[in-house]
Amino acid sequence: MDAGTYQVVFENSMEELAKFVNANYPNSKRYIIADNNTLQHCLPLIDKYLGEMKVEQQVFNIEPGEDSKSMDLAYQLWENFTDLKISRGDVILNIGGGVVSDLGGFVAATYKRGVDVINVPTSLLAMADASVGGKVGVNFNQLKNHLGYFSNPKGVFVNTEFLNTLPDREFVSGYAEMIKHSLIADNGAWQKMVKQGSPSVDFVTEILPSSVAIKNKFVQEDPLDKGVRKVLNFGHTIGHAIETLFMDSDTEVLHGEAVAAGMICAAYVSHIEAGLPKEDVVIISNLLNDVFDLEFVTWLMAENLELPLKHDKKNAGTELRFVLIPETGKAIFDQPVSMELALRSFEFVQSVVNGEMEF
Ligand SMILES: NC(=O)c1ccc[n+]([C@@H]2O[C@H](COP(=O)([O-])OP(=O)(O)OC[C@H]3O[C@@H](n4cnc5c(N)ncnc54)[C@H](O)[C@@H]3O)[C@@H](O)[C@H]2O)c1
Ligand SMILES: [Zn+2]
Repeated sequence: MDAGTYQVVFENSMEELAKFVNANYPNSKRYIIADNNTLQHCLPLIDKYLGEMKVEQQVFNIEPGEDSKSMDLAYQLWENFTDLKISRGDVILNIGGGVVSDLGGFVAATYKRGVDVINVPTSLLAMADASVGGKVGVNFNQLKNHLGYFSNPKGVFVNTEFLNTLPDREFVSGYAEMIKHSLIADNGAWQKMVKQGSPSVDFVTEILPSSVAIKNKFVQEDPLDKGVRKVLNFGHTIGHAIETLFMDSDTEVLHGEAVAAGMICAAYVSHIEAGLPKEDVVIISNLLNDVFDLEFVTWLMAENLELPLKHDKKNAGTELRFVLIPETGKAIFDQPVSMELALRSFEFVQSVVNGEMEF
């Protein structure tokens, strides 16, 4: 798949990766950024290809998890790069989930004004979303992705075999972004998902290329996120508010889980404001409630969302802005929505989870 300045490769991707590196970086040193889990589970699977690429033995190994997307880790990596005298002609392979590609991409983009990066996504979220689109960054002072940059990789090589070791909950969480892609731009894929119910690795492997193509299309049309790319925020307005509310709690809510709840809210608002038929809201809500464990929405009160919603980056001044779907497979962005309706949509998702779907 052509992503403008780079390719996203799905077929024979690991052979292609080795060929690409050997052809484009014949005299460069090659380094890997991975986390403890991808080091343990993913690197052995591609040992043969790493051998063909003569990757330096140096692997930058970070602790798994969102806490690693920090300035502390970035600083540590810049120090490592400097000690190893990594030069601008060298290449970094990010082998991991979105944390590795966001952090690795950020560190590499700023080091000596940019050293080349290749993404080898290993989580479903990274395959379907994070490894494509050029956004890199770290969190700062409890603010997500507060420091960052637009910087494209030189290639993305997707191997869904990695998904076999990804924990189920992470797998399902990544699937939320694929559901999002279908709901905003591909009714055919959406219908397949409804038929499928809970996703399997085989099913995901089949539909992943067209799902990533949807993200790529919006990114190509609007690389800097000023217009149509915003449709990729479907479900993310309430989703982010939920993530913020659970940030410092003992309950872990994964990004895709929060977005799944957010998509039910956005479907409800789409029914009221954009004419999405009620039957579609029912189908969307039932599928999401079946695939995801959304129990956490019942632990919040709708009013709790008011504050984080007011601070949503997508707002225009104080007015809430949603992405809505007038029909499945079609999206409109920058739609003004009242706080009252946004909070009502949260009560709707609570009713879905309680098994009594109340419109
Ligand atoms: N740049 C973007 O456009 C973009 C888009 C969406 C999300 N993101 C970012 O991505 C991050 C989330 O990504 P994520 O969900 O991949 O998180 P992650 O990188 O933390 O991976 C999730 C967990 O799965 C483990 N893991 C990954 N692949 C594995 C495998 N094949 N086998 C076993 N374990 C594996 C990881 O070690 C980690 O514990 C967030 O920080 C988010 O902000 C960025
Ligand atoms: Zn997302």
